[in-house]
Amino acid sequence: MNDLIQSGPDDLPEPPDKEFPAPAPLESHGPARIISMCNQKGGVGKTTTTINLGAALAEYGRRVLIVDFDPQGAASAGLGINANEVDKTIYELLVAPRPDIRSAVRPTSSPGMDIVPANIDLSAAEVQLVNEVAREQALARVLRPVTDDYDVILVDCQPSLGLLTINALTASHGVIIPLETAFFALRGVALLVETVDRVRDRLNPRLQIDGILATMVDQRTLHSREVIERLEQAFGNKLYDTRIRRTVKFPDASVAAEPITSYAPSHPGAEAYRRLAREVIVRGNVA
Ligand SMILES: Nc1ncnc2c1ncn2[C@@H]1O[C@H](COP(=O)(O)OP(=O)(O)OP(=O)(O)O)[C@@H](O)[C@H]1O
Ligand SMILES: [Mg+2]
Repeated sequence: MNDLIQSGPDDLPEPPDKEFPAPAPLESHGPARIISMCNQKGGVGKTTTTINLGAALAEYGRRVLIVDFDPQGAASAGLGINANEVDKTIYELLVAPRPDIRSAVRPTSSPGMDIVPANIDLSAAEVQLVNEVAREQALARVLRPVTDDYDVILVDCQPSLGLLTINALTASHGVIIPLETAFFALRGVALLVETVDRVRDRLNPRLQIDGILATMVDQRTLHSREVIERLEQAFGNKLYDTRIRRTVKFPDASVAAEPITSYAPSHPGAEAYRRLAREVIVRGNVA
């Protein structure tokens, strides 16, 4: 019954968080830790987390590169880039004999955060790469020349476990799995974890799951609290302490094509992603 309670304010303050201090500024930058935002289920907050975690890390002085790795181009659009009008996207880099990633990197409105955009062309890469030598390593090869320029590279994956996502996992040190806080959301996670294990065994021994992020949490419902309990049991300390509440400010910020941290800097949603940035640094997922 409590599941049905929908009334109440949408912008309750975040709980106090003494445990994640503001990080010290970095004296120098790089090499980047590469983190894939992955979940084959659609609409769980991968892109929202990529954009806003990236922007929050940039606020803390980290150099951030976002790789839009979804043919839908949502990360590009969410950062105000029309990926149909840029000279080069991640697609050209993936299929080029000698890819020059610097020619595709674009600044964003967040100082310290750049992006390599994507558009629908990327959907062709999946087919084109199939017959390539080292087809799983294409993204790793593209990123190599700039890893020393950034502290973190966030790869926004598409909702699938196909070859593009395998490329993201093969290029990465870590995986963050955003999970919508609902029971049905737990179903696909075993398959995702299995895929990560397979990529680690066969292609990328350094790969680890950095954390599970509970998104779209509705604190007022018993359902959300029960799901969080299940996640705690299933994932233990891999579950980030930071939770992302459900709030309409996130879709609003995507329409405005900016991170929530600049669109509504003092909104609890912006503070939640800053808190996640501090937690990710405290855990050593990012320098
Ligand atoms: N915490 C939140 N509260 C409310 N809405 C949210 C929240 N996080 C994301 N959204 C909204 O939900 C929708 C899906 O989010 P998002 O695009 O980040 O998910 P995704 O996992 O990247 O989706 P896809 O699998 O299609 O790439 C978007 O409209 C977004 O604005
Ligand atoms: Mg997305």
